[in-house]
Amino acid sequence: MRELIDADIPPDGPHGPVAILERRMTALLGTEAALFFPSGTMAQQVALRIHADRRGRRAFAAHPQSHLEVWEHHGYAVVHGLRCCPVGDRHRLMTLADLAAVGEPLAAAVWELPQRDIGGLLPGWDELVAQTTTVRGRGAAAHLDGARLWEAQTYYRRPFPEIAALFDTVYVSLYKGLQGTGGAVLATDTVTAAEAVVWRRRLGGDVHDAWPMALAALHGLDTLLPRLPAHRDHAIAIAAAVNVDGAARAVPDPPQTPLFHIHLPIGPAAAEHAAAALLAESGVELFGRIRSAPDPDRCSFEVSVGENAMAFTPDEVVGLIHDLLRHSR
Ligand SMILES: Cc1ncc(COP(=O)(O)O)c(C=O)c1O
Repeated sequence: MRELIDADIPPDGPHGPVAILERRMTALLGTEAALFFPSGTMAQQVALRIHADRRGRRAFAAHPQSHLEVWEHHGYAVVHGLRCCPVGDRHRLMTLADLAAVGEPLAAAVWELPQRDIGGLLPGWDELVAQTTTVRGRGAAAHLDGARLWEAQTYYRRPFPEIAALFDTVYVSLYKGLQGTGGAVLATDTVTAAEAVVWRRRLGGDVHDAWPMALAALHGLDTLLPRLPAHRDHAIAIAAAVNVDGAARAVPDPPQTPLFHIHLPIGPAAAEHAAAALLAESGVELFGRIRSAPDPDRCSFEVSVGENAMAFTPDEVVGLIHDLLRHSR
């Protein structure tokens, strides 16, 4: 960050960090345009609103556990009058058959790659191509919730433009795998981007002083994007050690991205209590948030391997899980 600041880049304008970031994302994703947004929540609402207005349709399809459906107080409905058709089983990925079974005309379908709340699962490449082609063939737009596209690419191992080309609009996050301070980019064609500029202004997203977010993201692109395959390999090694040990279970096995879930044989309250004791004892915060399960005596948490987690060997993580379980008794 300091190096970039010292490089004497002006804070805004065509030579400022936001413009540099937008140009870099355009080239990286192979789209005609890329537009900075202060949040992914806003970027996705704008993309869906444009797809809906253009088609005169209000419904979009998405996984029942998509971020839009679960974590955004239904902004798409309250702010934009859109309707979500949850598609498929909440604990599994959407399938082509699930999408084909949607009866009503859709403005868009949303793919969250990876599907975070079910352990970071990804559809196979051929399945993804078939799904997006089918949806677009029915006149709906394909939108990518690519908050973790950087992570998903480590599984597909295809160039970013090849993945982005499956979609009409692509949102990427600047602060997850790239570990920036916040912000998002919406990559798309020039016509859609021009409409998105208007909506960004309308929703209050045309913020001044966005340059620190862009600078942090540029730093992440330089330093962390090349590290993501190593993060994924480490996630696979940790998950394998957890599953060989058997006290807890890592899902999916093997992880497809640096993100996976660990399922514990204890209830959520016991896990939270044990985590607090573990933190006090060792200074290690094993998870941010616990997830309950239909079985009250089980729960799970998400592991997202970034630079911090690289400092722990798989055996150390297994040891921490044993410490956690010991504190739960
Ligand atoms: C899959 C997914 N989509 C969208 C978002 C929203 O991004 P933002 O926090 O920038 O609004 C998040 C944030 O966690 C996310 O995980």
